[in-house]
Amino acid sequence: MKWAQAAAFLLVALLGAAEARTEKACDTGWECSGSRFCCNGTITDYFKAHHFEEFFPRRNDSIAHAAGFWTYQAFIAAAAQFEPRGFGTTGGKETGIKEVAAFIGHVGARTSCGKFYPNPLAWGLCYNREMSPDQSYYCDDSNELYRCVEGVRYYGRGAIPVYWNYNYVIIGKGINQDLLSHPELLEQNATIAFEAAIWRWMTPVKRRQPSAHDVFVGNWKPTKRDTVSKRYPGFGATMNIMYGDGYHICGRGFTDEMNVIISHYICYLDLMGVNHESGHSLDCADQAVFNPSTKSSGS
Ligand SMILES: *[C@@H]1O[C@H](CO)[C@@H](O)[C@H](O)[C@H]1NC(C)=O
Ligand SMILES: *[C@@H]1O[C@H](CO)[C@@H](O)[C@H](O)[C@H]1NC(C)=O
Ligand SMILES: *[C@@H]1O[C@H](CO)[C@@H](O)[C@H](O)[C@H]1NC(C)=O
Repeated sequence: MKWAQAAAFLLVALLGAAEARTEKACDTGWECSGSRFCCNGTITDYFKAHHFEEFFPRRNDSIAHAAGFWTYQAFIAAAAQFEPRGFGTTGGKETGIKEVAAFIGHVGARTSCGKFYPNPLAWGLCYNREMSPDQSYYCDDSNELYRCVEGVRYYGRGAIPVYWNYNYVIIGKGINQDLLSHPELLEQNATIAFEAAIWRWMTPVKRRQPSAHDVFVGNWKPTKRDTVSKRYPGFGATMNIMYGDGYHICGRGFTDEMNVIISHYICYLDLMGVNHESGHSLDCADQAVFNPSTKSSGS
């Protein structure tokens, strides 16, 4: 018995060693040394503090609701948790730049207050929480795993706003924070707010569905059914995943709601000096949503 265990242990050790040999570990980049993704460089190699300032020049404006909250350092600290899993480090430098611009495109569009101002694309990161929410809303007490905490409210907060008690639970598990008891962390700590948003980007929203990261960097290969539903790898599919069937962004033609998200992405790419993809993959105007639920989740 002992010998069998020892032999099994040896075999596992040998397999481990073989795997370690084929996977080249890297020691470049303080964020994620040891990860094969970092062989291609890290986010701080190409996305600098001045880029963040150029993306969000009005975020400290006197009329910005979260003035002084969002920082480059918070984004980089949060991104560092996900770079070893391929965020901003999959493919070459250009894919990395595009992924960061795409992710931040969603963030900018969702936190902007620039709709009625000149240069509306300059107003990303204006908010870190929903203004004047209905205080009794966003609590679904039907599942005891997600039971709302007395006196705690689950209105929209963060870089890609999180709504509803159950979404706070799911995302909190993903980033090791008790967001059911402390949803306010997403409006009090910018690093945690960015972590929550990047976790959402890196993680499938539903079962049997790719993540936004996967559809964007090309890890996902569309099936015949996807192609028939006009779902192609690219930025359009990331909107399909991030907004699902609750937001009515995709499959409705070229609406203002969809166009404004694409405009933020393209604006950030321009600031980084990279061209956007063209054709069907950029938008989701004709895309059917990934496995729609019958009842809209409203999240
Ligand atoms: C905005 O405020 C943050 C936090 O106080 C600061 O780090 C940053 O330099 C400011 N940026 C601008 C453009 O005012
Ligand atoms: C690194 O970049 C190269 C060239 O773009 C690519 O072929 C390779 O798959 C990338 N490695 C990882 C781990 O993403
Ligand atoms: C914000 O959260 C990060 C990550 O959990 C933590 O390291 C940092 O100390 C927090 N900052 C503040 C001001 O609490």
